[in-house]
Amino acid sequence: MKCNHAIALLDSGIGGLTVVREIHKQLPQERIVYFGDTARMPYGPRPQAEVRSFASQIIRFLLTQDVKLVIVACNTATAAGLPAYQQTYDLPIIGVIEPGARAALRQTRKKRIGVIGTPGTIASKAYEKSLQALDPTVEVFSQACPLFVLLVENDLVNTPEAVCVAEKYLHPLRQAGVDTLILGCTHYPLMEEVIAQVMGPDVTLISSAAETAQEAKAILTQQQLLRHEAGELPRHRFFVSGKPDSFTQQAAALLDYRPEAYQVILP
Ligand code: DGL
Repeated sequence: MKCNHAIALLDSGIGGLTVVREIHKQLPQERIVYFGDTARMPYGPRPQAEVRSFASQIIRFLLTQDVKLVIVACNTATAAGLPAYQQTYDLPIIGVIEPGARAALRQTRKKRIGVIGTPGTIASKAYEKSLQALDPTVEVFSQACPLFVLLVENDLVNTPEAVCVAEKYLHPLRQAGVDTLILGCTHYPLMEEVIAQVMGPDVTLISSAAETAQEAKAILTQQQLLRHEAGELPRHRFFVSGKPDSFTQQAAALLDYRPEAYQVILP
């Protein structure tokens, strides 16, 4: 029965949709329930305890939706308390940081890895810890990019201003000679072109989306929770805490269907 339950994802806004895209690719038979906390976005500048309580509140809501796995598709919320969510709730919960770290270590040749993320993620040092736990010899260079989320959410990615901002943020990482750059925020793959243009062709960009989807698949396989039913794909459900209109529009541009999003006011 539980096989027919959904995979739940949460983020502060549209960033987690980069993980949804990968789930659709790798697990096309699975139903998605998504929550974008658009009314309280951005999470990046908020204190960790606050982000942790927002994420817990959203997970509690998602658990009312018949879900079998939760993906915290937000680096800031993963950094703020993944172990706390895992200890509190009785179902598999995964984040996006470890998968990103693993993918980066597979790619780097010089063992000089850059990490960009929100102020919260960078201050937590979650990527450094994760990378160095897997390979203590790796050198990590981190940079917070607070304006990137706002550029993405406000559809300002393809503007000269976005290039200027990216040049300023990424300059120290270019100077450091990183050969691999982790896009440590699920919003950043949505401005990958600009980041790639600024970093140049010798730097490999890493998004944790694909690796996270692989981990979800591995867990569902191992726990015999994959949905096997053929035939019509059940409806995905999207919830937002703010007004649904702009979310729906942006989501439609990212996914190959137009999702219906419903507003949920969390108490
Ligand atoms: N997409 C999020 C992340 O991966 C959060 C962005 C934000 O709300 O600041 O960190």
